[in-house]
Amino acid sequence: MPFTIAIDGPAAAGKGTISKAVAAHFGFAHLDTGLLYRAVGAKTLKGVDAIQAARALTPKDLEDDSLRTPEVAQAASKVAVIAEVRAALVDFQRAFAQRSGGAVLDGRDIGTVICPDAPAKLFVTASAEVRAERRFRELEGKGHQTSFADVLADVIARDERDMNRAEAPLKPAQDAVTIDTSTLTIEKAVAAAIDVIDQKRKDA
Ligand code: DC
Repeated sequence: MPFTIAIDGPAAAGKGTISKAVAAHFGFAHLDTGLLYRAVGAKTLKGVDAIQAARALTPKDLEDDSLRTPEVAQAASKVAVIAEVRAALVDFQRAFAQRSGGAVLDGRDIGTVICPDAPAKLFVTASAEVRAERRFRELEGKGHQTSFADVLADVIARDERDMNRAEAPLKPAQDAVTIDTSTLTIEKAVAAAIDVIDQKRKDA
C-alpha cells in the first residue's frame, strides 16, 4: 500500500535529516524535492533556460555534488517561482509519492500542492538564527569561506522568496503537524516525527 509522508519547511530547519531518518525507520523511499529545483538552478547558472531545463531533467541530473552550494540554493529558489518550472516537476514527484513500499518527500509544497491527500504531513521549522547557525557550521565544515552574517542574510532572502511567491508558497498545510527544532536535538526531533507518523498510520 502506498503511504506518503509529506515533510515541508524552510531551509536548514532539519527537514533533510528528519526525512532520511524517518524513511530509514519505516523502510520507505525518500525524495529530497529541493534537489529537483537545485538541478534546474544549477543549469541556469550554466546559461540554460529554466523552463527547458526543468522539462528535460533526468534522475541523473540529481546526482551532482555541486548542487549543495549556496549559489545553487539561491538559483534554485529563483527558478522555483516560475510556474512552468514547477509544473514540469509535478508528475515525477507524484509518481514517486505513489511507490508501493511507501514514500517520504520533503520540500516546500508537498503537503499543500504535490500530495494534498498525504495521510501524514509535517512542517519542520526553526528560528532563522538557529537555521543560519547550522548552515554556517555545515559550510565551514566543508571548507567554504563564508561569514555567519552572510549565511543569515541568505537564509532570510530564501525564506522571503519561498514564502511570498505566487505559486505554491511555503506554508504549513492545514492538517500538518509542526515540529520546531530550534531547541531540539536531532534524536528528539526524529523521535517526535516518528511519533506523529505512527499515530497517523494507526488512523489511516
Ligand atoms: O530544500 P532545498 O534548500 O534544497 O530547496 C532549494 C530551493 O528549492 C528552495 O529555496 C525553494 C525550492 N523548492 C521549492 O520551491 N519547492 C520544493 N518542494 C522544494 C524546494
